[in-house]
Amino acid sequence: MTLKRLSDIPGPRTLADQWSMYRRRYQMGHALREISQSHGDIARVPIAGDPKVLVSHPDHVREIMVSNSQYFGISGQDLLRRVVPWSLIAIEGQLHDEHRAMMLLTLRKILTRRILTTTILRANQALSKLRDGDVIDLYQFSREVSLAIAASLLFPAEAGDEIVSGIDHKAFLDLMSQSNAWFLGMPLAFQNICLLADLRHNMKIMATRRHVRRQLTDAIKSARALSRSGPDADVMSLLTDGAEVGGRMRDEFMEDNLLTILLASYDTTANTLAWALWEAAGQSAVQNRISEEGARLSDIPADNLEWSNSAVWTEATLQESLRMYPSIWATSRRTLSDYRLGDFLLSKNTFIYTSQWVTHRDPRWFPNPLEFRPERWEPEASCGTEKPADERPQFSFFPFGGGKRFCIGKAIFDQEASLLLGSFFSRWEATQVEDCHPEPRFGVTLQPDRPMLAQIKRRRPEFES
Ligand code: HEM
Repeated sequence: MTLKRLSDIPGPRTLADQWSMYRRRYQMGHALREISQSHGDIARVPIAGDPKVLVSHPDHVREIMVSNSQYFGISGQDLLRRVVPWSLIAIEGQLHDEHRAMMLLTLRKILTRRILTTTILRANQALSKLRDGDVIDLYQFSREVSLAIAASLLFPAEAGDEIVSGIDHKAFLDLMSQSNAWFLGMPLAFQNICLLADLRHNMKIMATRRHVRRQLTDAIKSARALSRSGPDADVMSLLTDGAEVGGRMRDEFMEDNLLTILLASYDTTANTLAWALWEAAGQSAVQNRISEEGARLSDIPADNLEWSNSAVWTEATLQESLRMYPSIWATSRRTLSDYRLGDFLLSKNTFIYTSQWVTHRDPRWFPNPLEFRPERWEPEASCGTEKPADERPQFSFFPFGGGKRFCIGKAIFDQEASLLLGSFFSRWEATQVEDCHPEPRFGVTLQPDRPMLAQIKRRRPEFES
């Protein structure tokens, strides 16, 4: 069979299509889904510069992320290099492998030693502030509690709260929106023009970054002085000390990685938790089942070690939140040489999007994909036309990516988010406020475009404060 060329790949490509994509850049997931539905599993994406291709079939996603990942590099790293040049997400090759191994060891220590205590403590603090009958923003609640947890895990107690209080959230959210998948697909010269065009705004973002970085540098100095080790050690202390994690990480690497993890962990966790809370607030059967599981949680952290294994429904709700609202909704790569994908020959430097948003909402893998149905994930489940989870293609669901860049924080997310969701619904019943219809906004991560308002009612009198 003769291979088709890049120019034969179906999909919109005219200037008018490019303009339309620009106008829909914060709705880009919807635009990509339409392209995939109209043009197939390998389709052109109308963004200027090097050719862009959307790859939606799970088998091709696996090929790119795992089995043939050596033929693909990260893309969009020009902008990332400017923001966090030495973090895991911006480096490649041996340096990436070495630092990834060190970070994985570090997070494993945190997972076994600190995650339960920290999450339960911070969850209790956040939940005790809520009052019966309040209307709360579930997104803001999720952001505050996830950020507090991330700070406690990453930094010594003395430094964590101070660093977090110095962050200008709006500036960071703006940075996350601005450098979205559309922006990263544009040529570097264009990215520079955009940054210059909104100079005042961008200077504020850069100033925030400098401010946080200065705090990190100071915190690293004090962490050295405190030299914390053992069960109470935080990520920064473990990396500074180096004894337990295969060596000391140099300051510039550590600062960038800490900043990345602070943002990567709190933003993604907060978004996923917020959508799960929101959807459950719209389905009382869902939250009642989570509540029953949450009622088995103990205030003694160590007693909850095995809890999430039995909290099947809580887990299923989070899985469904990751399916419908994948916080990382698109990942991108570029071909390092000419590469054959399916029937097409992609040339070197082709920019490839794989999109969790598109693939997770494909009815071939998830019937009625626009319905939030945690029962899809129950171990024995086969609801109606639904395939049991283990019969779906592996990469029909890939919220944490795959292969050598698979998310290093998944296990932390799993523990943290299930404890938070269980704790919340064990105490509170939530009802969506009428006329509040949050929609996803496609920045670097998938955030709700407005507050997620819900009214809360106390479930059990014993939780009276
Ligand atoms: C809902 C929660 C989360 C989601 C959906 C998520 C998603 C992802 C995805 C899709 C990737 C791969 C990106 C790519 O292939 O280009 C990734 C990488 C990464 N994640 Fe997460 N993540 C989550 C939570 C976390 C947490 C809690 C941490 C840290 C504690 C974390 C730290 C990282 C880091 C450092 C990388 C880069 C890994 C590398 O390049 O080697 N993430 N994440």
